Amino acid sequence: MDTKILLKEDQIPTHFYNILADLPFRMDPPLHPGTRQPISPDDMSAIFPMSLIEQEMSPQREIAIPEKVREAYTLYRPTPLIRARRLERALQTPARIYYKYEGVSPTGSHKPNTAIAQAYYNKLEGTRKLSTETGAGQWGSSLAYACHLFDMECVVFMVKVSFQQKPYRKTMMNLYGAEIYASPSDRTEAGRKILAKDPECPGSLGIAISEAIETALQDNRTKYSLGSVLNHVLLHQTIIGQETKKQFELVGDYPDVVIGCHGGGSNFAGLALPFVRDKINGRKIDLVAVEPASCPTLTQGKIEYDFGDTAGFTPLMKMYTLGHDFIPPPIHAGGLRYHGAAPIVSALLQHNLISAMAIGQLDIFHGALQFARSEGIIPAPESAHAVQAAIEQALQAKEEGIEKAVVFNLSGHGLLDLSAYKAYLNGELESDQQSAVA
Ligand SMILES: Cc1ncc(COP(=O)(O)O)c(C=O)c1O
Repeated sequence: MDTKILLKEDQIPTHFYNILADLPFRMDPPLHPGTRQPISPDDMSAIFPMSLIEQEMSPQREIAIPEKVREAYTLYRPTPLIRARRLERALQTPARIYYKYEGVSPTGSHKPNTAIAQAYYNKLEGTRKLSTETGAGQWGSSLAYACHLFDMECVVFMVKVSFQQKPYRKTMMNLYGAEIYASPSDRTEAGRKILAKDPECPGSLGIAISEAIETALQDNRTKYSLGSVLNHVLLHQTIIGQETKKQFELVGDYPDVVIGCHGGGSNFAGLALPFVRDKINGRKIDLVAVEPASCPTLTQGKIEYDFGDTAGFTPLMKMYTLGHDFIPPPIHAGGLRYHGAAPIVSALLQHNLISAMAIGQLDIFHGALQFARSEGIIPAPESAHAVQAAIEQALQAKEEGIEKAVVFNLSGHGLLDLSAYKAYLNGELESDQQSAVA
């Protein structure tokens, strides 16, 4: 059997898959924070274009991917599904380990899958500029690139601790023509309020989202773009899982376990949702979201209505949350430092269709090193959470003497995260909390 399981360009999915059509329960709607009534499309039109608002609320199972978006995807899609034979040998496991490698995109992660789609729909509706937040910089650089593709401006608020840890991400965004500010910044009311309380605040995704939304609200041709959490973002990412299913068919296999790291939920859901559909239809399969022990939204958060940002600009969403003012410790997986979770992922967890686990920072770098030394690819610290969870599954299979197929989303490479690896190799990386399962 081949190591790389490849599809042709004409096998890039033609539709996004909308899980809302297949859920065996009703989702609680997002609420207007003032009235606590379900929000209307008009309420959201100040910050999003109507086509994305429609996708956010659509009950349709399949939504056609515009030809221009599919054409942009041909730059890097279909992405390979890789059988991790060298890792299997190193672990001496009977498990078959596969990873879907999204790091082959131009900016190094799964984020362009939705950045390209969002930029396209915004352009059609006359948006001139997109504002956004970014954690580790993967999302910001993807949106900067997508805006350039469709001839739009882009402004990015990058969480301050990541801005300091990953300076080359800023260069990358500048290279695509975007403006970047470390968040909290003095450019917005939301940022100034936080700085007045704590000038040394390391920032968080929640704060950076507030700054980006405030920026969009000030100009009617600037819209806001979110890299995760929302239904339409998860919808765009389902091309990952659809391709993966076709790739498994090609080799006559099917996963027993599907794993993705979890920040806001988009790469996990992108891989998992097409398989969740099978589970709803009676197939036996485990789907595991993996988060950092120091930002344990799914394993220790409460499911309730909360804001998606720190300042309270977003609608209230029913989700697992640590509280919208929670500021996680400055771990290196900056893209996972989010207080909330996608409402779809939250509802699936609440209804036991998926499970979640949390892993400590030192354990994930240990797993990432083992992966890099066998497979060669250096994972993004975010993706390393999925790597470590897959290794744990493979070791458990060895202990129990059972064969099983494990697939995980290698959502990005870590070539711009080498300062974190340097700290790990020098023994300077701090341990956070213990690993846990929910
Ligand atoms: C490589 C990578 N993986 C995962 C994530 C987490 O986001 P999500 O949960 O939306 O996939 C990020 C976020 O920045 C990322 O850069």
